[in-house]
Amino acid sequence: MTARFTTNDFGIPVGSDQHSLTLGPNGPILLQDHYLIEKLAHFDRERVPERVVHAKGGGAFGTFTATEDVSAYTRAALFQPGAQSEVLLRFSTVAGEQGSPDTWRDPRGFAVKFYTTEGNLDIVGNNTPVFFIRDAMQFPDFIHSQKRRSRTGLRDNTMQWDFWTQVPASAHQVTYLMGDRGIPRSWREQNGYGSHTFQWINASGERFWVKYHFLSNQKDDFIARHGHEGFSQAEGDQMAAVDADFHRRDLFEAIEGADFPSWDLKVQIMPYEEAAHYRINPFDVTKVWPHGDFPLVPVGRLELNRNPADFFAEIEQAAFSPANLVPGTGLSPDRMLMGRIFSYPDTHRHRIGPNYAQLPVNRPKAALKRSYSRDGAMSFENYPAEQPEYAPNGFGGPHADPRLTTEENLSGVSGDVLRSVETPRPDDGDFNQAGDLVRTVLDDAARDRLVGNIAGHVMQVTDDSVRSRAFGYWKSVDAELGARVENVVTTALAGRG
Ligand code: HEM
Repeated sequence: MTARFTTNDFGIPVGSDQHSLTLGPNGPILLQDHYLIEKLAHFDRERVPERVVHAKGGGAFGTFTATEDVSAYTRAALFQPGAQSEVLLRFSTVAGEQGSPDTWRDPRGFAVKFYTTEGNLDIVGNNTPVFFIRDAMQFPDFIHSQKRRSRTGLRDNTMQWDFWTQVPASAHQVTYLMGDRGIPRSWREQNGYGSHTFQWINASGERFWVKYHFLSNQKDDFIARHGHEGFSQAEGDQMAAVDADFHRRDLFEAIEGADFPSWDLKVQIMPYEEAAHYRINPFDVTKVWPHGDFPLVPVGRLELNRNPADFFAEIEQAAFSPANLVPGTGLSPDRMLMGRIFSYPDTHRHRIGPNYAQLPVNRPKAALKRSYSRDGAMSFENYPAEQPEYAPNGFGGPHADPRLTTEENLSGVSGDVLRSVETPRPDDGDFNQAGDLVRTVLDDAARDRLVGNIAGHVMQVTDDSVRSRAFGYWKSVDAELGARVENVVTTALAGRG
């Protein structure tokens, strides 16, 4: 084997990996040791800011195959029968920092990037079909209540319950969070959901409202072996102490061992006009669409089969954005989704840099980029020599596709400019679907675990009025459940004296 000499970052061989250049064997280091300076200076800059949320995670590459014919609903190339696209899927916790345990109770991020022939489509969802709030204005406040306090640097159950109990829209998602999905056994056994309502547009220009569901093909097997999905609180706590990277390791090892996890993609489809009079606001991300009204329609299969070659380059620098929508897909008037369209590219310019879209993991892989963006910090792509720098131009430069303007149109929207809640519909109550989840989806054992998890969490609230609001919140979800939580907490606190 030929010796491979270390070089500096410019390919120049270096004389030592271990000894700095000094004046005599016992003297000080010299400024002319530019290799030492390069080594330290680059090290000093190794980290980029962690994601402001979803900082801890992991992911892998794979393939999405459209196995069904949904061309009646969307003209998007990736969803045409037989089409295959490379994908990147990143899983994450929400509130914990880089290095925090994978098995803390939290929703899990489920962010998919499809490298399609029409550009990159990102579906940036969670392992639950709903969210805590319904207006982007509340997102920073909600996240602050979940993160660490400014004065103590500690997370604080009192502020979590103070926020949740004052925002009843949170009840549905908090029910999921306190249940078995709050601590998955692995990323492989959990489902993923786009959560928001999106649009599909077919080749004739007809529109539909859709919700994405990625259903894990590993989940049933996990449940058969373990009795139910997810870790119990005790199992999660134990794993947090033993292996903080349990989920990251599990995914990496499964793929290295050629045990490739997969998910079936299904969608719920609502006819465009039905949205105006459906009994639940179909754009409210705190609500699900009952499957009895909108059954799941199969679309395709996503398989993960390749670990990243470099975690930092391909996972840490990956930038997912709900704004990345390809032709044949579109937005809905969901106030959370609107806020997210701004927030993600904005944070990427800050977190990674203004040319983050040029990085191999973020740039289109199956489509050509023909934008007029140029220059900026760390630009390394050459601007095409033959392309004019402006549009419109008379020299054959790219021009926009006017058909897409009609896809961006939203009909039926008008009114005064104001700040208000949306007009309520008959089944829009904040606690309805949370109560249904407790009473009709969970079995007795799952309800028992839910009571235990909620009680354990509320027990750590230090303010009496917040604690009593928490009891009221759960009684609004389900009277019996709330009474059981109150009983467990008050008995335990009385026992403590
Ligand atoms: C990450 C903002 C709601 C799922 C992030 C990041 C920001 C953010 C700033 C960090 C992105 C990065 O550094 O790359 C917001 C805002 C929201 C919102 C402002 C509401 C207005 C949601 C909702 C979901 C969600 C409703 C799920 C349905 C995710 C996921 C990630 C993420 C999965 C991690 C993406 C990755 O793996 O890189 N969010 N978010 N977020 N968010 Fe949100």
